[in-house]
Amino acid sequence: MNSRISSLPTPFYIVYEDKIRRNLELIDRVRRMTGAEIIMAFKANALWRTFGIFREYGFKSTASSVNEMRLGNDELCHRVHAYCPAYTPETIKEYISGSSHITFNSVDQYMRFKGNISRHNASGAYHVSPGLRVNPQCSVIETDIYNPALPGSRFGVTAEMLGGKLPEGIEGLHFHQLCESSSYDLEKVLDAFEQQFGDMLDKVKWVNMGGGHLMTREGYDVDHLISLLNDFKARHPHLQVILEPGSAFTWRTGDLITSVVDVVENQGVKTAIIDASFACHMPDTLEMPYKPIITESVEPQEGKELPTYRLGGNSCLSGDYVGDWTFETPLKAGDRLTLEDMNHYTTVKTTMFNGLQHPDIVFARSNGSLEYLRRFTYEDYRNRMC
Ligand SMILES: Cc1ncc(COP(=O)(O)O)c(C=O)c1O
Repeated sequence: MNSRISSLPTPFYIVYEDKIRRNLELIDRVRRMTGAEIIMAFKANALWRTFGIFREYGFKSTASSVNEMRLGNDELCHRVHAYCPAYTPETIKEYISGSSHITFNSVDQYMRFKGNISRHNASGAYHVSPGLRVNPQCSVIETDIYNPALPGSRFGVTAEMLGGKLPEGIEGLHFHQLCESSSYDLEKVLDAFEQQFGDMLDKVKWVNMGGGHLMTREGYDVDHLISLLNDFKARHPHLQVILEPGSAFTWRTGDLITSVVDVVENQGVKTAIIDASFACHMPDTLEMPYKPIITESVEPQEGKELPTYRLGGNSCLSGDYVGDWTFETPLKAGDRLTLEDMNHYTTVKTTMFNGLQHPDIVFARSNGSLEYLRRFTYEDYRNRMC
């Protein structure tokens, strides 16, 4: 680790410009080779002080709340593609003022609010393109909490519900069925989508294939994605194709650096307590759940007794732990641990549960300089809650 990074006090998230640029280059290549519009989902990344880099590449964004929309308007300087499961009479007006496309989750929502859109058009200010989220019910995700295609899902209209008829005025179809998925999963979903909604495609101008396209993950078959999108475009040349991944933009672009504060033992289980928390600072590790990679850990070796620890957060939540990891040498207070890939989703989902000190956020520029994007204080804790 760069010695300037290793001298910063823990805990802190660190986000790397080089790694962001590597992802953006790849996504840009897919965009250029397919003509698809690839926009960024803020739910996975809202570190707006790094957005200058995204602006260089001209990436637009998708928003699922008015706050996210304002971030897109202010920090990426464009009207966003909006999708929210349910608009209200108050929020729809705000969405219309800052969006280029608005996707409705149900026919009822569209019927209720389409008047707002046409009234706005009549004033001649600008056109907001209305779309409908559909649900091809093609389930390719194993983790239920991230699966929008489960039976009973609240997301999108099924083909059966539409009965072959698209409401008057709808200009686009949107589906989102993937999560950290491969291009082969997209192929299955596209197949289901075209079988169920193919008849309606000549009536719309755009198709948004949602997020979950993890094209920046090692091993992702990017050429296969490119050929899938080009084949789709060849079948439907009039359609604008949109993809709205979140994770792919900031996949493996940052880490959480923590220190061990104590090691405790109970009934043979050794726990290293760290100065961060899984519940507060890495919520996906508990929600999904998954075990993050720790740079300093090693694989257990047969015939060699190596020290193994559960890692526990410094909060009062009993379940605030994930384990086990093996190390070359015993852990002790002051040892630093790097929990990898803690940018996408993690930095936006963190809370200040228990009043724990929030990790600082440091930006490591390509030229070697380090910049505090944010240092958190008591006032941040207090003001965040009211
Ligand atoms: C409607 C929609 N679009 C895009 C995304 C981004 O997905 P991902 O970050 O998996 O690419 C999500 C994630 O939940 C979503 O719900």
